Amino acid sequence: MPEFKLAKRVTSIQPSPSTAAAARARDLKAAGRDIVDMTVGEPDFDTPDIVKDAGIAAIHDGKTKYTAVNGTLELRKAIAGRMQRHTGIDYPLEQITVGGGGKQIIFVALMASIDDNDEVIIPAPYWVSYPDMVVANEGKPVIIACPEADGFKLKPEALEAAITPKTRWLILNTPSNPTGAVYTAGEMKALGKVLERHPRVLVLTDEIYDEIWFGEGRLVSLVEAAPHLKDRIFVVNGVSKSYAMTGWRLGYGVGPLPLVNAINKLQSQISSCPSSIS
Ligand SMILES: Cc1ncc(COP(=O)(O)O)c(C=O)c1O
Repeated sequence: MPEFKLAKRVTSIQPSPSTAAAARARDLKAAGRDIVDMTVGEPDFDTPDIVKDAGIAAIHDGKTKYTAVNGTLELRKAIAGRMQRHTGIDYPLEQITVGGGGKQIIFVALMASIDDNDEVIIPAPYWVSYPDMVVANEGKPVIIACPEADGFKLKPEALEAAITPKTRWLILNTPSNPTGAVYTAGEMKALGKVLERHPRVLVLTDEIYDEIWFGEGRLVSLVEAAPHLKDRIFVVNGVSKSYAMTGWRLGYGVGPLPLVNAINKLQSQISSCPSSIS
């Protein structure tokens, strides 16, 4: 068979390491081995019964057709309500988009906004998918080591030093996978001060674990800590971890209208809409 030519965007990335490790753990379990699987972020409780029942009712009620590309109005209203409760900020419904998981939303947000080696700052340790998602979209990951002595968190000086004219995004994941590190409002404000000096830089805050956190006090989102930067903050969240709905594939993004519109345009050609049942 002649060589099968694949696109550079595929040959330049690796398959998701956590997904590959999870498949191996599943195989070993199936072979009867006693395996403690700490690979993918799978909650240790089952999808709650009220969610299961609502899913079954949705199927019986015929909610089995395509929805709007950015999710149903009802769902976007619910997301706007949650954003209001958690951050005090009212987001118009057109600044909210829904897709097949937070992962897809992040991938498509990068697809919509980077190319030509645009740089994306990723504090390490990081969720293993970020760098490859950047590379697959023709960007350049810029990894900043955040040592344990700093609580595995990005320092304002390190952020300032990493920003170049090519920087497009900073990805902040709080609470962090894998370290569990959480940025305080003060730490976010300090990062916000640096970002004020660099108006071209967008921030993707991945808050997917914000309900799986058992620390003291309240989690604060960057949009609340630095509301004046709201027009360049894209908040990503979803139902996978909070409600143990990983297999339902539903995630969302909230942020700048031009970005959300671009994501919707791409999604209309990718998956058409999120799962109507979910
Ligand atoms: C940090 C982080 N962000 C996003 C996701 C994506 O979750 P989902 O696509 O299931 O919404 C994960 C999943 O493991 C994660 O660990």
